Amino acid sequence: MEECLALTLAILTIFVASRVRKFYAGLKAVSGLPGPRVPFWPIGLPGAVIPTTWWNPGLGYHWVKRLKLYKHFGSEVIAIVPFLIGPPGIYVSNVDVARQILGGGQSALAFNKMRSSKSVLGLWGSSLLYSDGDVWRKHRRVVGPAFHNTLYTEVWIRTAQAYHEMVAAEGWGEGDIVEIPIAQTITMKLTMLIIGQCVFGFPFTWISPARLSDGSMSIQECISLIADRIFALRILPKWAQKLPFRALQDIYHARDELTRFMNEQVAERKAALSGFSEGSKELRKDAFSMLVAANEAESEKRKLTDDEVVGNVFAMLFAGHETTGYALAATLGCVSLHQDIQDGVIQQIEEVVGYNRDPTIDDYPKLTKVASIFLEAVRLFPVGHIVHHGGKTVAIRQGTKVIIDMVGLQYNPRYFDEPEKFKPTRWEGISGDSEAFTAFSFGPRTCIGRKFAMVEAVCWLTMVLRDWRVEPMLRPGETEEMWRQRVLDARVGMTLNVFDVPVRLVRRRSK
Ligand code: HEM
Repeated sequence: MEECLALTLAILTIFVASRVRKFYAGLKAVSGLPGPRVPFWPIGLPGAVIPTTWWNPGLGYHWVKRLKLYKHFGSEVIAIVPFLIGPPGIYVSNVDVARQILGGGQSALAFNKMRSSKSVLGLWGSSLLYSDGDVWRKHRRVVGPAFHNTLYTEVWIRTAQAYHEMVAAEGWGEGDIVEIPIAQTITMKLTMLIIGQCVFGFPFTWISPARLSDGSMSIQECISLIADRIFALRILPKWAQKLPFRALQDIYHARDELTRFMNEQVAERKAALSGFSEGSKELRKDAFSMLVAANEAESEKRKLTDDEVVGNVFAMLFAGHETTGYALAATLGCVSLHQDIQDGVIQQIEEVVGYNRDPTIDDYPKLTKVASIFLEAVRLFPVGHIVHHGGKTVAIRQGTKVIIDMVGLQYNPRYFDEPEKFKPTRWEGISGDSEAFTAFSFGPRTCIGRKFAMVEAVCWLTMVLRDWRVEPMLRPGETEEMWRQRVLDARVGMTLNVFDVPVRLVRRRSK
């Protein structure tokens, strides 16, 4: 018995000593920077799966403490040093420091839930999202040209079309009040539709999605299924494909069919391209076609493989669908509490577009107030809430994590006065290509889809707000302040997503 006790005590002493050593090594690694000393590193196991509480920071730490974290420690750069499990790490909420770190073009991209397992998108070949250094430059060179005015015009036209289809399909044409218990159901459907049409180049509509050639599933269903379950696809072993579970078989079927389909599409686009050069065909305007075209124009050495082309198309789906969908839902939520701001926006829409025609892409630069409400919602709810960095370009010890805290940046009062307030006016007069929109990241790895998202959002919001006043959908006895506290908060996982946003739309003008 005594021996057993002695052994336990010895093990305990060794463990405590090893943790004390680890802790001091951590403090040394971050050169004594101020910050919380905690049991677990928040962005790894087990810290990330334990909720944010007084003793565990967890994934949501920088969100929950967004208004006081850096103020409390008196520094815009803080260090989290765990004493039980995980590496020490630095959180940065200062743009200049972040710029130095991002400047190296080595960002390890972490905001998307898929990015946690590096080669998820590798299912279809490497892409912009998962590459670094020269490989990343090769991808960006080919993907970059797809993001230009032809694509943005297409995004605008399709978004306007989608609005009309949505009004008809969702029955909004009938009454004067539309209740939407979860705004995300509409905004995510929109962003999936636009990615489907403008990135993949598929003939989706709001109600009739394109189907796989075997008719079993719509392409949209396939893409949604894969987007939702990609993590399972990645972690399950190969033999799992043979298990007799319908849910599993559906995912594998979707993956196989979609891969086959996408490869056929590359071939079809290459063929269309040669038809185009002979003058017999018009070049398609989706990003996929433009990517194939840019790639074909590259020298053999710089060309992407077919798999990499497909990988990049999927990268755009994963980086562009949820992000824009959640940001639009957040925008509706924010404006619903600010009728005065809506009045200003509607006045601009009346002046620029009026009521007798649909808005066009030429109106886009003039719809500054619409753009501002979206940008402000993206600032308040930065979907890509952290950007990981391996620490290769800054003078810190190896093994130390560096996190650009996108929430901390957006809520830093040196950059944004009264950061907790919804103040779209702060964006007016700032040029579209400015790097002030830090929620889209900055430096060489800034979001390549920023204008895509902006054009889609401005078009859709212009059409919605021209027709409808957006109000919060209150529960019985609930005040607007109670609604704000209940709804305008966020779930933090690999992405930061506003809670379900319940709104009601009230028709502005009688039919
Ligand atoms: C509100 C909408 C969006 C937000 C807030 C957003 C935010 C971001 C952020 C913060 C990054 C940098 C991530 C990192 O370095 O870890 C990023 C990168 C990226 N985004 Fe977006 N994004 C949005 C929409 C889109 C759309 C619509 C697309 C495509 C159609 C897109 C495609 C990409 C791609 C491909 C990258 C990687 C760029 C590179 O590494 O060179 N994003 N985005």
